[in-house]
Parts: sequence; structure tokens; C-alpha cells
Amino acid sequence: MHPLQRFPNFIPRLRPAWLFALLSASIVACVAPCRAFASPASSDRVEDGTSQWRSALHYTPQRNWMNDPNGLVYHNGLYHLFYQYNPAGNAWGNMSWGHATSRDLLHWREHPVAMHADANEEIFSGSIVVDARNSSGLGAPHSPPLVALYTSAYKEGSGHAPGIQAQSLAYSLDDGKTWQPYKRNPVLTLAPESKQFRDPKVSWYAPGAFWLMSAVVADAHVVKMYRSDNLIDWTFLSDFSLPDTPHREALWEMPDLFPVPLDGDSSKQKWVMIVNVNPWSIAGGSGAMYFVGDFDGKTFKPEHMPPAGSDPSRYLWLDHGADYYAAGTFAGAPGGAPVTIGWMSNWDYADRVPTTPWKGAMALPRKLALKTINGTPQLTFEPVTQYAALVRASTTARIGELSVSSGTQALAPSTRGVVQDIELTISPQSAERAGLIVRASTDGKTGTRIVYDARLHTLTLDRSNSGVTGFSPAFSKQHIVNVDLTNGALRIRVVTDSDSVEVFANDGATVITDLVFPAREDDRVALFADNGTATFRDIAITDLSGEHGTGQADR
Ligand code: FRU
Repeated sequence: MHPLQRFPNFIPRLRPAWLFALLSASIVACVAPCRAFASPASSDRVEDGTSQWRSALHYTPQRNWMNDPNGLVYHNGLYHLFYQYNPAGNAWGNMSWGHATSRDLLHWREHPVAMHADANEEIFSGSIVVDARNSSGLGAPHSPPLVALYTSAYKEGSGHAPGIQAQSLAYSLDDGKTWQPYKRNPVLTLAPESKQFRDPKVSWYAPGAFWLMSAVVADAHVVKMYRSDNLIDWTFLSDFSLPDTPHREALWEMPDLFPVPLDGDSSKQKWVMIVNVNPWSIAGGSGAMYFVGDFDGKTFKPEHMPPAGSDPSRYLWLDHGADYYAAGTFAGAPGGAPVTIGWMSNWDYADRVPTTPWKGAMALPRKLALKTINGTPQLTFEPVTQYAALVRASTTARIGELSVSSGTQALAPSTRGVVQDIELTISPQSAERAGLIVRASTDGKTGTRIVYDARLHTLTLDRSNSGVTGFSPAFSKQHIVNVDLTNGALRIRVVTDSDSVEVFANDGATVITDLVFPAREDDRVALFADNGTATFRDIAITDLSGEHGTGQADR
């Protein structure tokens, strides 16, 4: 549970556990040759403890606790990922900013801690921009500073009442390696001072030529927006809140506001407001909701607000799984499309996750687009372009078509893997339910199930029998979302890693991300159909086990 609060857990909608059907011995064709990958440099890996759950594709710090992504910025060919980090332990505390960089958002190099908690304050979440015009005056015209806005969470003796939160500034003159706090911090306090005023996200608002900040008053469920010409002096613009807060016990955290073209048409630009909410997520606990609307330089006006009293299912979510929180976008990402990264955990049980000597991983970076779906603008999500290129270059198995009748069929041994990209089209046909099992054991007794229910029109990621699950009663078991078939079929992409499963369905209109903790040797893939025959087509499986996202191979 989040150390800043003690709220009862949201109770997810559970469905009865599924029985694991018997794996049949059927072998299917595998064509393309397997890729050989270099082994990771073992000298700089910390592999005591629970190395079987160390992500290969997803960023994890070598040791210690990590939560929110912070300071997401692209600068001089590098993506910077700063993050909430405890340099002194594997539990939340001493909040500081850890730092990693990547050239492709997939291979990360961990750097020394960028900003340390000290006797006066902890360094809570925030953002970074490149102050290209040196508007802050903190750099020089030809060597612009990187400027971070973050939350100072004050301690006793700091001159502020303990627990007060205010927005502070730090700057870097060496491309993000080292950071100096601004001498007149904090730059923005609430009047009266608040213990819940945090998470400044700053961006350049081009139409008005000013810096725009959104920050939350977490327990008041409000996003406050400010403007500035120099990143130091901030003027209040407006508040965004819901007419009827449906979650009075929850906190709003980590806001983000950014423009996206609708249906790829830049003349039809909309604004998206991300509000991370805890604990009121669609999957229970913490999650990332979003609103689509317009921003006129002062006020954000959402369209299509759910009616008063709506439950989470009437809201829009970046992800329908349990493990996608504190998501935000990279400043200055090349290519035009917004790119997000989210913390792959949940405050309901993040402190109980059984990994050591580290705790916390980031989900795969995702490229966003805004599309008209069923008459309303909604975000779609896909792994970033660099990921798609990696998969295209190395697909190891292709299966044209396969039918399964009332049972489970294991795929060929050549499709085994822990770190995999699996794409396929599921046509449930006469089956009541159809889907696949990933990270399955050879005896078929455990595995993570991805289930399409043709009668209920739902897609479920079911981790009830996925391995180690008993470390917290709040580790929810099944995450369910309404999904319609297109011409009787569902195209999905599943990304498995050592401790996670991400499912992208219907061209990324729906994503489900869950942590799982299977045995190292649970590396089988199987297909199943319940009470009828289902067909699976265009199956492509890519072994990505040679990819190391955790700091060994900064390309
Ligand atoms: C979100 C959050 C932020 C805060 C940070 C503290 O997960 O609670 O609101 O700044 O984590 O670590």
C-alpha cells in the first residue's frame, strides 16, 4: 500500500477461476531459424535473490526500490528516464531520482542517482524540459540547460511544516548527468500550503509561446494548471476536476496534458489529460485514466464525460491491467507521436512484490494515437516503433492456421520462451471461449491465460494460476475488458517477459498489463478452445530473450 495513504483496497470484479485443460502433445510447424543472442555481461549484473524475475525487455534498476517514471525527456539522441528511487533500500523511502538512458527505449543504461533526498526534503515526482532558448537564464544561449520541476516533500527542520509539498526547480548543464537545485526553491507553493500538492508536468505550449505546468492537489481531485515564461515564476491558469468526484477516497497523481491529432489529421487536434488515480482503477488499486478534450491556453474542457456516479468502467483507461501507473509522456520524443512509459506495479501490493534486490519495473514504452472508435475519440497504444523493428527482424516461428476443438494444444518446443512477442488472430467460431496460455508449465498446471469470451464479448488476462501469487491478498487475479470481434476475429499481440505479460488487442485499442511471477522453466505457449472449435491464424512468435533492457547494453 502507498505509504502516503491508508485506503481500503478497491475490490476488482472477479470471475471464477478457470480450470487448466490438458496440454495435448500436438506439434506444429516452426520455420525461421532461431537467432543467436549474446549473453549479457554478467560482471555488472546483480543476480543474487530472484533473478528469474529480472526483466529482459523492461527497465528495472539493478537494486532497490523504484516507482514513478520522472523527467521523461529526449535530448541529444538519448531518452532519459528518471524515476522515484530509494538509493538505500528495497522499499519506498528516501525518495530520490534514479536515472537511466536509452537510444531506443528498449536497452537502458543505469546511471548514478541524479537527485538525492537530503536532511530537508525528499524529491518526489516531476518532469524535465530542454530549455532551448535559455528562458530560465540558468544556462547559456549556446548551451541550454535541462530544467527539472519536481516536488519537494519537506521534512522536519526544513523551515517548512513536515509533509508540506511544493514545486522546486533543478537544472543540469551537463546533459542530465548532474543537477543543481535552484537557489530560491521552491518556485511554486499553494496558499495555504498543502501536503498533497505535487507531480508537476511541464511542457512547451507552442500556440501561446509559454511553459505550461499541470500538477495535482491529490486529495482534492484537482489538476491545477499554471503558465510561465521562464520556468521559475508561475501564474495560475485554471483547475480541472470532475463535476461529481466518483472516488472521494482516492488520490489524483501524476497528471499529463498533451495534444494529439485525431485520426492522424493534424488539423483536427485534440488534447489528452492523463490523471493517474489511486485506488480507483478499472483493475483495482492504482491506474491511469484519461480524458479527451480541448485546451485553449487556459482551460482544459473534456468531451464525453461519464454521467455522475459512474463506476470506473465508464471512464477511459490507458491500460486495463493491474500494473500500469504513474504513466506520462516523453518531452521532445522524435516522430511526432506521444510516447508513454508507466510504472509496472500497483500501490495495492507494490511493496510485497517478491523481487530482490530490486523492486519495480517499467512497462514497455508505448506510442499513442487518437482514433475515432465507436463515435468517440480514444487513444490507441502500440509498443514503440523500435520494438516493432526488433520483432520484424527476428521472428522465430510462424504458423499459418491451427484449429483447436474443446481442449488445449501446446505449440511446438521451438516456440518455447520466456521473453517473447506473440502475435495471432483468434476466431472463436463455435467455441464459448478461446485464447492462449503463456509462460505455461510443461505439465500444463500453471500459466497465464488470455481468454476471449465469445458470449460475453470480453477479453480477460487471468493470472490466478500464473506462478507465485500469494504474496499479497490484493494481488488481483483476473482483469477483464469488453472487446468486440472484427469480422468474427480478434488480432492480439502479447509481450511476455520474466515477470510480466502485456496484451495489445484490436490494433492497440485495448491494452492489459499484469505482473506475473512464474517459474523460470515455465516457457510453453498453448492455445485452447472451450466447448467448441476455435481457429488461430497468422501466428508469429519472436524470441526476444537476448534483449536486455536493464542497463547492460546502451546502444
Ligand atoms: C505516485 C506518487 C506521486 C509522488 C510519488 C512519491 O505514485 O505517489 O504522487 O510524487 O509517488 O514517490
